[in-house]
Amino acid sequence: MNVIIGKRLTVLRIVRCGTRSLSSRQEDVNARQKEMMKRGLPNISPIPGVKNILLVASGKGGVGKSTVAVNLACAMSAQKDKKIGLLDADVYGPSIPKLMNLRGNPRLTKDDKMIPLLNYDIPCMSMGFLIDEKAAVVWRGLMVMQGIQRLLRQVSWGELDVLVVDMPPGTGDIQLSIVQNVPVAGAVLVSTPQDIALSDVRRGAEMFNKVKIPVLGMIENMSHFTCPDCGAESKIFGSGRVKKLSKELNLDLIGNIPLDPELSEYSDKGVPIVISKPGSRQAREFMNIADEIWQRLPGA
Ligand SMILES: Nc1ncnc2c1ncn2[C@@H]1O[C@H](COP(=O)(O)OP(=O)(O)OP(=O)(O)O)[C@@H](O)[C@H]1O
Ligand SMILES: [Mg+2]
Ligand SMILES: [Zn+2]
Repeated sequence: MNVIIGKRLTVLRIVRCGTRSLSSRQEDVNARQKEMMKRGLPNISPIPGVKNILLVASGKGGVGKSTVAVNLACAMSAQKDKKIGLLDADVYGPSIPKLMNLRGNPRLTKDDKMIPLLNYDIPCMSMGFLIDEKAAVVWRGLMVMQGIQRLLRQVSWGELDVLVVDMPPGTGDIQLSIVQNVPVAGAVLVSTPQDIALSDVRRGAEMFNKVKIPVLGMIENMSHFTCPDCGAESKIFGSGRVKKLSKELNLDLIGNIPLDPELSEYSDKGVPIVISKPGSRQAREFMNIADEIWQRLPGA
């Protein structure tokens, strides 16, 4: 496995513990998690310096969580005199390094905490800064849990009003261990209009309900396409279904982001559209969503 050494000895340690007796320790972790769930007494403690934790989640992969997380963080940071940070909790497939145009290894504080990398005034942390992105794909159970623990506990954020967390896809152990570790102020759920996404998003909403985390709203991504020639709007993936689900789940639909090749293009270049084209319709949509979030975040 491609692991960074030298100053990043701590990362190496994660991998070595992981290989020692993976299966028995994994069983321990599973048993502990089951026990925690049963008793309903999760071991939650705050991240020092961080006032509010906001999750961008879905349940479904590839619906635009990372795109939303990045643009939302930039929009929230532009709107108020508040400090926003961005945590990439997707240890299998980190996207933040690319989307925020950041690479390299974090420096360490004297007490061995990692210092986030900074771009567009947003401090960011991602497993992609610590290991080769391709190496993450082969991670298994316990290593993933330890990686997440490190991202949650071993980062020196300074003072943050809001830490936006780009969640990994799914509603399994990884997601559960995150929400049972740190106090989450709220989550937003991203969905595309297709049926297959909707059922996963429903599962996501159920998970947050179970652990009593407020869902602040739903965001419909790739909701429509505007023809560049005639300006006609078409709902290529169908219409009304996300709205219907949000009503059913008693959640507000707080944004509709169009399917937009430009949005994807800028993301690929590492410049969020909120930064590269702040006056554009797409950027304004993210600004509106950020507004809605500010109103719904109880402590911000
Ligand atoms: N509104 C949009 N218009 C066009 N392309 C989009 C839009 N939203 C996201 N994309 C593109 O879709 C792809 C997936 O987006 P993204 O990585 O944000 O999804 P994700 O939910 O974080 O995926 P994963 O589950 O793999 O983490 C990316 O290539 C992104 O640029
Ligand atoms: Mg992602
Ligand atoms: Zn047309």
